[in-house]
Amino acid sequence: MKKIIKNGVIVTATDTYKADILIENETIMQIGENIQESSAEVVDAKGHYIFPGAIDPHTHLDMPFGGTVTKDDFETGTKAAAFGGTTTIVDFCLTTKGKSLSSAVEAWHHKSKNKAVIDYGFHLQIVESSDAVLAEIPKMVEEEGITSLKVFMAYKNQFQADDETLYKTLLAAKELGALVMVHAENGDVIDYLVKDALAKGNTDPIYHALTRPPEAEAEATGRAATLTGLAGSQLYVVHVSCADAAKKIAEARSRGIDIWGETCPQYLVLDQTYLEKPDFEGAKYVWSPPLREKWNQDHLWNALKTGQLQTLGSDQCSFDFVGQKDLGKGDFSKIPNGGPLIEDRVSILYSEGVKKGRISLNQFVEITSTRAAKLFGLYPKKGTIAVGADADLVIYDGNVERTLSAKTHHMAVDYNPFEGMKITGEPISVLSRGNFIIKDKQFVGEAGQGKFIKRAKYGETLEKMPTMI
Ligand code: URP
Ligand code: ZN
Ligand code: ZN
Ligand code: ZN
Repeated sequence: MKKIIKNGVIVTATDTYKADILIENETIMQIGENIQESSAEVVDAKGHYIFPGAIDPHTHLDMPFGGTVTKDDFETGTKAAAFGGTTTIVDFCLTTKGKSLSSAVEAWHHKSKNKAVIDYGFHLQIVESSDAVLAEIPKMVEEEGITSLKVFMAYKNQFQADDETLYKTLLAAKELGALVMVHAENGDVIDYLVKDALAKGNTDPIYHALTRPPEAEAEATGRAATLTGLAGSQLYVVHVSCADAAKKIAEARSRGIDIWGETCPQYLVLDQTYLEKPDFEGAKYVWSPPLREKWNQDHLWNALKTGQLQTLGSDQCSFDFVGQKDLGKGDFSKIPNGGPLIEDRVSILYSEGVKKGRISLNQFVEITSTRAAKLFGLYPKKGTIAVGADADLVIYDGNVERTLSAKTHHMAVDYNPFEGMKITGEPISVLSRGNFIIKDKQFVGEAGQGKFIKRAKYGETLEKMPTMI
């Protein structure tokens, strides 16, 4: 099966140029001017960009959390991702104290297999540093291809790990060539502030933000960076929400620490005042870390532009407003944390970033795809448009104007945090390993066609491409 995508403008992290792309089965075979191949299906991309399929390094699908389970599973979540131009996700596999890592991975394979529409990998949570867990990590990295380990520094009495566990995970990661990821907030201090607020009768959603101050995020970020330096290891800080935390990352980088930072669309566009919306609507805007004062947004945009933050995750963690978010009526600490963003992540960055002149088109590709591919062992099969790479491609209309809404999105939840937001740009067609999964804005994929990817170690490439052998 051959396809030629003609007349599009190819955009990678480094180049923008007009060329045709010849695809054979799953792979890009040729890129050039005026490619002719009589047996190929011809797709005209005139007037459109062609981006490498976006990579979402941060999703929570079918995940039990906050007394409920995220609404989007691997089928609805990856389908929505595809509509948004994302062709690979890396989802967080949760583990349980006292249980084996392999049982957790097995459970996550069970959730995703036969459901995912796009390719996927797993990050593995490390919640304790028992001898049994430490002994199992090498197999996860070396054999299971799970080359990133996640430590939560917050969510006390639930996901939170102590500094000993973080440090031992950093040492193991250094030894094995894995990347440690942290949710950086000081969970102990937050736990105190939450209890104090509730004791004073402060129960509204806004207190979620007020009990998780920027200091708690910056302190944990700085601590994790320092421990990474001490271990000589490598660290990726997820969902950086504020200037103070971004500065800790920049400062650590300037000291030569191998540290990377991710932010998310909500922190670039929304602010703390959304949590004050009446009729409990503020619950729709409960994330951890929380939305911040608006002035932080300029700092985050500049950090993306200057490379102090390098990636954008969706932190997809969706709950219905009715029936799930409302578990926290009368007690903000019971509002399930998280929101639906897997679908709109890419288009928000294009519209708010490229169209508003904050980042270049090539930076947009780097931030939504290439950098994540390199950090998480997917490059160069994923994350770029090159001969030998997987034909994961997005044909993108860079000029169409549209309005984000729960009425038109494909996520399984009953609200969209960006409801009514006017944006420019939309994926028209999306290919996953050479197959259309979205064609002319219609879903034509199949549940189960997405493959689990055993990822390369930190700093290594996934597979030598045919032309490089
Ligand atoms: O509020 C959030 N971020 N929910 C998802 C879980 C996490 O901490 O990433
Ligand atoms: Zn988190
Ligand atoms: Zn998350
Ligand atoms: Zn068009």
